[in-house]
Amino acid sequence: MSQTLKAVRGTRDLLPPETALWNRIEATARAVFARYNFGEIRTPIFEDTLLFARGVGEETDIVSKEMYTWEDRARAASEKPQSLTLRPENTAGVVRAYIEHKLGETGQLQKLYYIGPQFRRERPQKGRYRQFWQIGAEAIGPQSAGSESPLRDAEVLEMLSSLLNELGISGWTLELNSVGSSADRARYNDALRAALEPVASQLCADCQRRAVTNPLRVLDCKVPEDQAIIETLPKIAEYLDEDSKKHFDAVIAALDAAGVPYHLNPRLVRGLDYYTRTTFEFTHGGLGAQNALLGGGRYDGLSEAIGGPKAPGIGFAIGLDRLVLTLQGLETTETIAEKINAYIAPLGETVNPAALKLARELRRAGLSVELGDGSFRLKKSFEAADKVARKIVILGEDEVQSGILTVKDFSTGAQTKVPRAELDRFLQQ
Ligand code: HAM
Repeated sequence: MSQTLKAVRGTRDLLPPETALWNRIEATARAVFARYNFGEIRTPIFEDTLLFARGVGEETDIVSKEMYTWEDRARAASEKPQSLTLRPENTAGVVRAYIEHKLGETGQLQKLYYIGPQFRRERPQKGRYRQFWQIGAEAIGPQSAGSESPLRDAEVLEMLSSLLNELGISGWTLELNSVGSSADRARYNDALRAALEPVASQLCADCQRRAVTNPLRVLDCKVPEDQAIIETLPKIAEYLDEDSKKHFDAVIAALDAAGVPYHLNPRLVRGLDYYTRTTFEFTHGGLGAQNALLGGGRYDGLSEAIGGPKAPGIGFAIGLDRLVLTLQGLETTETIAEKINAYIAPLGETVNPAALKLARELRRAGLSVELGDGSFRLKKSFEAADKVARKIVILGEDEVQSGILTVKDFSTGAQTKVPRAELDRFLQQ
């Protein structure tokens, strides 16, 4: 017997009726983004590996451990094969597209959103998959378009709070921090390295490595035994220069004015190296260990890091899988299959063509219709119809001749004779 094939570890199939909830979330996000003047961008699912190495950072977990990378076949024997990677995130791809299409030359701020799968070879668990979905957005442009303004940060955060509220997600927390300019980060990294030197040997193996290679990442550590030492380390706020402080204060003032609640978290440094100044996450208690619903921040140097012009930007990505889990956990949301308007039951195979014609007419009139088959016994048609539809339309030779159809309403049990001309309206009720 041949082996049964299954979806690969960390990937999964999304089936109806759950996909209806996914669609509702995506439609709400698209509607909210349109109100804030964001337009959709779709970038390729795989890119040159160098994009992520330079953009996200070689030392990050994402690039050093989690990417799906392979060598493409060389086109000619003399050519070096290109290293390609399934995108682990979409910000680097959007910024690459911004540079490639010279969007900066429009002089306008580019407000772009995306919805799509991302790939990271992480250890799968609840809320963490190897193929997962993000809904993200980026506001990027030349400085002259106001791309560096703290108002952009506040607007993005206000938009996120509105989107979550509109989706019916209650109980979220906005965790907010500033990681400063790249110069601030360098000074802070030095201070962290110095503070870590005498204590690093007491930390977990990962932190011992990070203390040398990328000390900022020590702040992400979740190992309980390490927390007491990490709490004593210097805080980034003490290393922000005047401009970064002013920027952060202005973000906070705008959030206060708009009434968006937040929690200042000096340890929030995020797992990607491109961030400057504002960083944030929205967390939700219902998610358990993987509690970040979404994350984002400002990346004023990313465009230059991948060979483009200066183009400050800010953005975020929502974990769509986690958004769905959160909504399913809240009692207000159920993924109940919506019943369709009608099920057409042809009585005998000779009526099948007339049944298809009727289904076509009803569907063109905007009704949702399922079509049975003339080979079914009436009992089987009734059982199938009761599962999916609000009403069943019985179509035998007599009905085709007379144009008077028998319709049963499953909610009332009533059986009614309905002339064809009145059928659309009757099924809509
Ligand atoms: P990130 O924090 O790596 O940021 O991912 C954003 C969100 O994607 C996370 O908060 C989480 O909800 C979801 N996510 C990440 N990994 C997984 C996974 N393995 N399974 C399920 N969900 C996951 C970024 O990706 C940045 N590009 C965000 C950004 C946009 N920053 C600026 N612009």
